[in-house]
Amino acid sequence: MRAKLNSIRIKLILTYLLSAVLAGVCVFFVFMTVCIAFYYNYEDFLNWVNANVVVFLLAVMLVFIMLMSAFFLLLTKKSIKFIEKITQLVEQISEGNLGIQIFDERTDELGNLSKAVNKMSSELERLIAEEKRWEKSKDEMINNISHDLRTPLTSIIGYLQMIIECKQNDNEDYMMQYAHVAYSKCEQLKLLVDQLFEFTNVSSKEYKLDITKIDVAELVRQVVAGLMPILQEKNICCRIDFPDEKVYTSADGTLIARVFDNLISNAVKYSPNGGNIDVMLRKEPFGAFVRVTNYGITIPEQNLPYIFDRFYRVDKSRSNSCAGVGLGLAIVKSIVEKHKGEIHVKSNDNKTVFEVRLNTNT
Ligand SMILES: Nc1ncnc2c1ncn2[C@@H]1O[C@H](COP(=O)(O)OP(=O)(O)OP(=O)(O)O)[C@@H](O)[C@H]1O
Ligand SMILES: [Mg+2]
Repeated sequence: MRAKLNSIRIKLILTYLLSAVLAGVCVFFVFMTVCIAFYYNYEDFLNWVNANVVVFLLAVMLVFIMLMSAFFLLLTKKSIKFIEKITQLVEQISEGNLGIQIFDERTDELGNLSKAVNKMSSELERLIAEEKRWEKSKDEMINNISHDLRTPLTSIIGYLQMIIECKQNDNEDYMMQYAHVAYSKCEQLKLLVDQLFEFTNVSSKEYKLDITKIDVAELVRQVVAGLMPILQEKNICCRIDFPDEKVYTSADGTLIARVFDNLISNAVKYSPNGGNIDVMLRKEPFGAFVRVTNYGITIPEQNLPYIFDRFYRVDKSRSNSCAGVGLGLAIVKSIVEKHKGEIHVKSNDNKTVFEVRLNTNT
């Protein structure tokens, strides 16, 4: 009701009526002034009015309309100024001056309009900043991909060249050695292309989740079993701490397996030989909680905020023993977010901990 009384329509009607009343009062005073002026020959004045009644009424009407218009313009001046202010603001926004705001306490339609323009202005600013960030990260991504493709390709070309030269000299031992290096570089390339493919696939909005009811303990056990070769290779013990009760989540099983596969294989990759890793599962009121802990190599605090970014690696040197693309955790985050879950990382006191929360209903 208050909003209706406060509406522009009502305000305009009231302003119109007020202008009419003020104009009427003014006309009355003008009439009285004229009467006083003609006080001594009042009859002459009345005779003139009687003789020129049409002219008199027209003159009164004209003065009334002019005064009413003047009062109406005066009373609506503030609102017109406000509309001009909004127009200027919209013009400034269209010239790229984003984020500017109009401050006013009005609660009528004009107030709502200014609020909507303010919202549009800040939303546009946010979208353009986001667009710029995307543009920058796309450029970085292309740079990283080019770098990661060029490095193994250059060495593959180099080793193939050497094989050709060995063949000419009939040096078979060297030839085999170079062929192996070229082969491992090809595998590195394939890993990069596979990871890239998986990342674009999983982070695409069109990706449809195949949701089923999943026994989380069973799924993690299968992942750990699949990672046995790399666990044995580094002589690492994977200590499992699961509850007796079943813990279920509704999720895309293949994708969630990728989450734990990435987290546990990272834990193995960034652990010293002969170490331990811990995988803990707990039932939570709304789903499942999984914690993967490894010891030894930690992630410096300043690197933690970027750890889930595409192509981010703490050790920038791509030639170290823990070769990787830097896409694993970006894939993990994308999958967890697709399931409306949460993932957090802590790294201090000689250990790195990744915690994942998955809801029962996705
Ligand atoms: N469990 C961990 N312990 C210590 N450091 C880790 C751990 N997991 C990830 N990191 C750090 O985070 C970086 C990013 O990890 P991510 O899995 O995204 O990439 P990656 O393992 O280097 O490559 P890949 O794409 O092959 O997985 C790693 O390079 C590593 O420095
Ligand atoms: Mg990884």
